[in-house]
Amino acid sequence: MTAAREQWGSRLGFIMAAAGSAIGLGNIWRFPYMAYENGGGAFLIPYFFALLTAGIPILILEFGLGHKMKGSAPLSFARLNRKWEWIGWWQIAISFVISIYYIIIIAWAFNYLWFAVSRSWGTDTIGFFINDFLGLTESPLDGGGIRWAIVGTLVIAWVVNFAVLYSGVKKGIELANKIFMPVLIIVLLILMGRSITLPGAADGISLLFAPDFSRILDADVWVAAYGQIFFSLSIAFGIMIGYASYLPDESDIVNNAFMTGFLNCGFSMLAGITVFGIIGFMMHQAGGALPEKLSGVFLAFVTFPEAVNQLPFLQAAVGILFFVSIVCAGMSSEISISETVICGLMDKFYLPRQKAVIGYCVIAGLISLVFATGSGLLILDIVDHFINNFGIVFAGLLEVILIGWFFKLKILQDHINPISDFSIGRYWRLCILIITPVVLGAMAVQKIRLGLTTPYGGYSTPAILILGWGIALAAAGSGVILSRIAWRIPVDMAQDRGTKTGN
Ligand code: ALA
Repeated sequence: MTAAREQWGSRLGFIMAAAGSAIGLGNIWRFPYMAYENGGGAFLIPYFFALLTAGIPILILEFGLGHKMKGSAPLSFARLNRKWEWIGWWQIAISFVISIYYIIIIAWAFNYLWFAVSRSWGTDTIGFFINDFLGLTESPLDGGGIRWAIVGTLVIAWVVNFAVLYSGVKKGIELANKIFMPVLIIVLLILMGRSITLPGAADGISLLFAPDFSRILDADVWVAAYGQIFFSLSIAFGIMIGYASYLPDESDIVNNAFMTGFLNCGFSMLAGITVFGIIGFMMHQAGGALPEKLSGVFLAFVTFPEAVNQLPFLQAAVGILFFVSIVCAGMSSEISISETVICGLMDKFYLPRQKAVIGYCVIAGLISLVFATGSGLLILDIVDHFINNFGIVFAGLLEVILIGWFFKLKILQDHINPISDFSIGRYWRLCILIITPVVLGAMAVQKIRLGLTTPYGGYSTPAILILGWGIALAAAGSGVILSRIAWRIPVDMAQDRGTKTGN
């Protein structure tokens, strides 16, 4: 017996979920530093250019595709052309890999939430993080044993992820985002209030926004802007295609895409101000010296705890709120990255949601234990670098080329325009057909060249081959293999699912 495809309960619910997917760790610890590194205020020019020529046009494309085809990424691509199904599976394989290491960062944030209560990270925050907490090994291939405190919080993160996914689109994902998103915004506003009133904050913020226009002609700055937009908007992960497949027939695709894009970028700006306000305060305390670690894992788990130590009052509260923000931003993205896998499995194998969720969570959960070992951070660093640079960029490039050049974009446009307030036309087609393929193509060439000539991060060749190239190629390969497996029901009918839909 079939049941209709699940649906979002409201438009607000969909926008919260899409924005929840977009707003993640990338906004909090990647954007501020990237802007600072690449010309400060001047970076905003390539950044907004990338948003308007690639980010939002591709969001419209993915929302339109998922909505028209009522399918996960593989089903939507299969319906365009059976030979393209593997691109959808490739995107899902990329998401599968990301979902496994992204969740470990949420687990660490749970640990640090607890440490923040009594600031048990002490005064040497880097030594605490690397030695006491992670028990970091010398090399990614030398395991270093399980870190049980991390396994504990990893289980908590998986239980939350499982419970949300198991409960379905409306009662699980939509509800969770309606809690995580408002909490995140409120927490961030409080943190921003605290940050900008600290001594030195203004200097930090002007460091972030002071424009260095000489950087605008640097191709690397443009590559950084496009890369940030792709990761941050969760495009080419298959996520937005699957999320849009749960939209009701009458849904404003163009407006939804603009709202998701602008909410995401607005949040990045707030996060940038908050982070650099605090960095300014730290510089003020240190007589002008910039803290060493300004981005990524080290910003969150080393520099931020150090800033908390130096606060005049409300230390525990600020620490707790910061890690709450990491948990909320991370969890809402993790849910979407996992759902893209679930959505594909349900469509292809005609599985009820519950079975797909149990299967995925058990397998992904067990693999994620690798990241709870002494070499977890090193493995994460390599896998993240390769899957982003040789997964997302290439899957995105193929997506725009295939759909733009070998499918009549006009068909998608004719689907999107009658249900949207604002129409898309020549400008959108120009972005998809020419601007994005040219920029992504140039990025792809540059990434391959760099990947082959410069060993990443000084890791050993076996580590790079196995954990870097190996996993990135395995993702593409599993895309091909999965696309060869027969559909349980004909592709034309696969949007209907098994009896228990969870809604
Ligand atoms: N879009 C998500 C982030 O920025 C994956 O972290």
